[in-house]
Amino acid sequence: MEKEIRALKARKNAVIMAHNYQPLAIQALADVVGDSLELAVKAKEAKADLIVICGVRFMAETAKILNPERKVIIPVEDAGCPLADFLTPDLIREARQRYPDAAVVVYVNSTAESKALADITCTSANAVRVVGSLSNTTILFGPDANLAAYVQRELPEKTIIPISPGGHCYVHTGFTLADVEAARKKGGMVVCHPECLPEVQEKADLIASTGGMVRGAADGDEPWSVFTEREMVSRLRVLYPGRVFYEKPEAVCADMKKISLADLQQALDREEHEIVLSPEVMDRARRAIERMIAVGA
Ligand code: 13P
Ligand code: SF4
Repeated sequence: MEKEIRALKARKNAVIMAHNYQPLAIQALADVVGDSLELAVKAKEAKADLIVICGVRFMAETAKILNPERKVIIPVEDAGCPLADFLTPDLIREARQRYPDAAVVVYVNSTAESKALADITCTSANAVRVVGSLSNTTILFGPDANLAAYVQRELPEKTIIPISPGGHCYVHTGFTLADVEAARKKGGMVVCHPECLPEVQEKADLIASTGGMVRGAADGDEPWSVFTEREMVSRLRVLYPGRVFYEKPEAVCADMKKISLADLQQALDREEHEIVLSPEVMDRARRAIERMIAVGA
C-alpha cells in the first residue's frame, strides 16, 4: 500500500502534509510533518496540484484558505477537532459588542467561519508573540481557555478575556497534577503543551507547541515526560533515538487517528474529500491568518 500511495502521489503531483499527532505510518509517507503553524506556512507555499492534509479539518481549511487555487483534500471527512466547536461566530459577535475596544484573536483550532471574524489568528507556537504584537490592551481570545491563561501569564500587561470560558481540549486537560507527580518520580523534565490546565502548566519545566517540542528536544539529554497527544512521543523517539521520552498512553486524540493508509490511498485515487468554502469566508479568514504569518513564529 505504501508503494501504491507513493505512485499515486507522483502521478497526481500531490504533496502530503501530516500533523505531529498522525500515526507514524502516515508521517513516514508525508512530505511535511509539523505543527499547525508549520503546516499552514508550507501549505501556503505549496506548488503541487493536490494538497493532502493528514490531520483534522481545521488544518485542511487553513491550507485551502491560504492556497485557494489548489485542490485541498482531507482523507476522512469527519476528522474534526472538538476544541474548535467551542467557538461560534455568534459568541465572537456578542463578545465584540461587549468589548468594542478589544482585539479578537482566534486560535487556529477553529472553524473557517470563526477565523473570518478574527482580527488575527494564532497557533500554540506564536500565541504570545501574536497577542504581544497588538496595540489593544484588552484581547478577546478563543476557543481555548487554557491557552488564553498561558498567554495571560506571559503577558500580564494585557487583559485576556476567554470568548468561550469552558473551551478546552479533552486530550490535554486529561493531564493532572498527579501526572506531574508521577513524572517527577521518573526524573527528567516535564514538557507540556499550552492546552494543558493552568495548574499543570505552572509545574512544567517547558511549555511548547508540538513543533517547539521537536526543536527543543534537540538540546540536552535528560528524559522528557511529554504532556501532549501520545503520538508526539513516537515522533520524538524516531527523531532522537538516544533520548528517553515518556508518554501517557491514554492521551489519544481520536480524530487524529481516523486516517488509515487505506483512507489515504483512496483519497489520493479519488481526490476526495475536497475542502470547499465560500469565497467571502475564505477572503476574510485569509486576512487574519496572513496577518498571523507576518508576525512570525
Ligand atoms: P500544535 O500547533 O502545537 O501542533 O497543536 C495543535 C493541536 O491540535 C494541539 O492539540
Ligand atoms: Fe483538537 Fe485536542 Fe485533537 Fe488537538 S488534540 S486536534 S486540540 S481535540
